[in-house]
Amino acid sequence: MLRSSLPFFLLFLIASFGESQHQQLFSSVFGYPGVDASYDYVVVGAGVGGSVVASRLAEDGASVALVEAGGFYEVENSNRSVVPLLSLTGIAFIDPSENFTQQPLMDWGLLSEPIPGAANRRVHYAQGKTLGGSSAINTMSYLRGSKSSYQRLADMVDDQSWAFDNLLKYFKKSCQLAPPNLEKRNSTNATVIYDPAAFDPSGGPLQVSWNNWVDPTLTWIAKAIEEIGLPLSSKGFSSGELVGHGAWIPSTIDPTNAHRSSAESSFLQNAIRNSSNLAIYTHTQATRILFDSSSPPKATGVIVNTQGVEYIISAFKEVIISAGTFHSPQLLMVSGIGPKATLDTRVIPLIVDLPGVGQNLSDPIRVSIANSVSTSSGQTLTGNLDTAPGYVQQYLDDASGPFSSAADYIAAERIPYSFRKNFTTETKDKLATYPDDWPETLYIPASFIGANFSTIGSTTAWMPIAFSRGSVSITSARMADPPSISLNWLSDPADAEIAVAAFKRLRHVWDTDAANTVKLGEELLPGPGVQTDEQILEYVRETAGQIWHPVGTCSMGQEGDEAAVVNSKGQVFGVHGLRVVDASILPFTIPTHTQGTVYALAEKIADDIKQAA
Ligand SMILES: Cc1cc2nc3c(=O)[nH]c(=O)nc-3n(C[C@H](O)[C@H](O)[C@H](O)COP(=O)(O)OP(=O)(O)OC[C@H]3O[C@@H](n4cnc5c(N)ncnc54)[C@H](O)[C@@H]3O)c2cc1C
Ligand SMILES: *[C@@H]1O[C@H](CO)[C@@H](O)[C@H](O)[C@H]1NC(C)=O
Ligand SMILES: *[C@@H]1O[C@H](CO)[C@@H](O)[C@H](O)[C@H]1NC(C)=O
Ligand SMILES: *[C@@H]1O[C@H](CO)[C@@H](O)[C@H](O)[C@H]1NC(C)=O
Ligand SMILES: *[C@@H]1O[C@H](CO)[C@@H](O)[C@H](O)[C@H]1NC(C)=O
Ligand SMILES: *[C@@H]1O[C@H](CO)[C@@H](O)[C@H](O)[C@H]1NC(C)=O
Ligand SMILES: *[C@@H]1O[C@H](CO)[C@@H](O)[C@H](O)[C@H]1NC(C)=O
Ligand SMILES: *[C@@H]1O[C@H](CO)[C@@H](O)[C@H](O)[C@H]1NC(C)=O
Ligand SMILES: *[C@@H]1O[C@H](CO)[C@@H](O)[C@H](O)[C@H]1NC(C)=O
Repeated sequence: MLRSSLPFFLLFLIASFGESQHQQLFSSVFGYPGVDASYDYVVVGAGVGGSVVASRLAEDGASVALVEAGGFYEVENSNRSVVPLLSLTGIAFIDPSENFTQQPLMDWGLLSEPIPGAANRRVHYAQGKTLGGSSAINTMSYLRGSKSSYQRLADMVDDQSWAFDNLLKYFKKSCQLAPPNLEKRNSTNATVIYDPAAFDPSGGPLQVSWNNWVDPTLTWIAKAIEEIGLPLSSKGFSSGELVGHGAWIPSTIDPTNAHRSSAESSFLQNAIRNSSNLAIYTHTQATRILFDSSSPPKATGVIVNTQGVEYIISAFKEVIISAGTFHSPQLLMVSGIGPKATLDTRVIPLIVDLPGVGQNLSDPIRVSIANSVSTSSGQTLTGNLDTAPGYVQQYLDDASGPFSSAADYIAAERIPYSFRKNFTTETKDKLATYPDDWPETLYIPASFIGANFSTIGSTTAWMPIAFSRGSVSITSARMADPPSISLNWLSDPADAEIAVAAFKRLRHVWDTDAANTVKLGEELLPGPGVQTDEQILEYVRETAGQIWHPVGTCSMGQEGDEAAVVNSKGQVFGVHGLRVVDASILPFTIPTHTQGTVYALAEKIADDIKQAA
């Protein structure tokens, strides 16, 4: 179009330029599909890990291709992915049931293998397929894990730069925190307490802020949780201490317009605006990593596929895989890196026999209780067609009101003695290996609209110490086929015991003065019929869901460790020029929501890459 409208002499001029000028004239922040191209770095996956690494390397002057299977969620899922309240209602496609509704522009539509420990259910496992990856569909809570968990990681990989106090600079580098807007929050009973020293005012582009509206139902559940012995933390949940406390936590929301702040809206938009050396390939799937014939082999690029058109993007320096916990191990395996037996079965030529690829999937589970309550909630207020337009206007006018608000509160604890005294000796011994600051349960309140505009209050417990391990494998040699995911929940009896105790603790929450003030009628879920340990465990097996924090399938570790896939700098063992930078390299669940840690992890490895260059 542009070319044919140019005067002939200009066309001639362009045609007489060399290839590099040609590309410069038509340069764009988007790659040209179908045309082989070369960059210093090729990054696969524009989720949390990939967006951070790609924009940091481009900012540093390197040329970077960023390959992403999805497009812009602001276009393809519109304000369902942008407006915070809609992250709880509008992203219906995250439904874990087998009968979920597909949203192929946004979600990979992964379905797990049947889970023997969970009533043989198959679970739909939503994973963002869009610029921003799962940060475009997540619930936006921002917090960090306990100090001892990062210490365990540092010791495991023999690299103390992973200890919390050393990692803190990368947590700070990735984001900036806005203090709560108390006027907009308009609440005297959802007190924000935090440690400003855990953030840096000149930190990175990710926006972290407190909701500009507080859900009344959550204030009551938070009060009930306080009543069972978990007072508000004096530091908040970003300083490495969580156990024994609750906190009104911030979310990845831009406080100025109350839009979701994703890896795309923060890091990538920044890089796009700066017209840096970044070339983004949207709707493009990496299908194989290419290697040269040197020894050890060096990754030289990737084969990609844009809507059926195949071409090669080459890397002068490194290929970086950030395709997430399910697709990163899949891409390694179809490219010849993984357990030899698996690759042999699929007739994939072996590059490196790395038995840990796809193994050790750690996927903590959650269990919930729900009751009818007398209080209102974001969903009931906005679900009412008479009042909803006013709330939309309030949201558009000053970024406040129920639409501006997502999850808000969390609590963490070690299960108290009276709830753990029946644990078997094996379970007690296993738990005893975790330091006191490592939470065994986290509690999340939520509220939903019920029949006749009533409100349903729910409490969810999730258990970050998952002894059960699953795995990811391949069903063919092609990325076009989904990976096979064995979640294997509750296969370890200790996990079942912990889940039952956590459930009883949730009942305890609903048995407080605060909860009794707002609770209406009989328990909705699971209901008073569920009482004995056997009944509770059956309920757990039938209803347990994921908390969407899967990790471990390309675990970091030390050279020579059978299970390790990458070293503490994300470099894949046995080859050159190849890293994995995403949640899959965490060898175990960090006891917290994961995004904050993945942003920091990617900042850290981006620095490693720059230093190696
Ligand atoms: C429903 C849900 C709710 C969550 N809630 C929270 C929360 O409240 N707080 C929190 O801290 N964390 C939350 N998380 C977790 C958090 O979002 C993830 O930990 C984080 O996004 C992981 O980052 P990642 O880089 O590993 O993967 P992702 O962010 O998922 O990025 C992977 C990217 O790779 C792309 N990709 C995959 N394969 C290919 C390929 N072959 N070619 C090209 N591109 C490819 C994908 O499309 C995707 O964009 C939630 C997650 C989900 C799914
Ligand atoms: C899914 O739908 C099928 C057919 O409608 C039904 O048999 C099955 O029970 C449903 N499964 C779940 C988990 O709802
Ligand atoms: C602030 O809260 C009070 C008490 O709940 C309520 O009456 C008032 O409308 C709220 N103000 C705004 C601006 O939302
Ligand atoms: C907190 O304040 C809000 C607004 O005034 C009110 O609706 C809610 O019931 C209060 N919660 C508690 C626990 O007092
Ligand atoms: C983009 O530019 C802004 C200032 O305009 C700067 O703060 C930021 O670091 C740059 N980011 C990238 C990724 O280039
Ligand atoms: C979401 O987008 C639709 C279509 O533009 C609009 O009608 C609606 O008001 C938006 N919702 C909010 C909460 O902004
Ligand atoms: C411990 O086991 C006994 C006997 O089965 C049971 O009555 C009791 O409720 C259990 N206690 C807890 C806290 O689970
Ligand atoms: C909803 O309200 C209608 C009419 O008042 C009533 O008949 C119905 O039973 C109510 N449903 C529930 C679930 O409360
Ligand atoms: C899984 O991780 C544990 C430690 O967290 C380790 O002992 C074990 O060897 C790993 N197993 C596999 C198959 O990778």
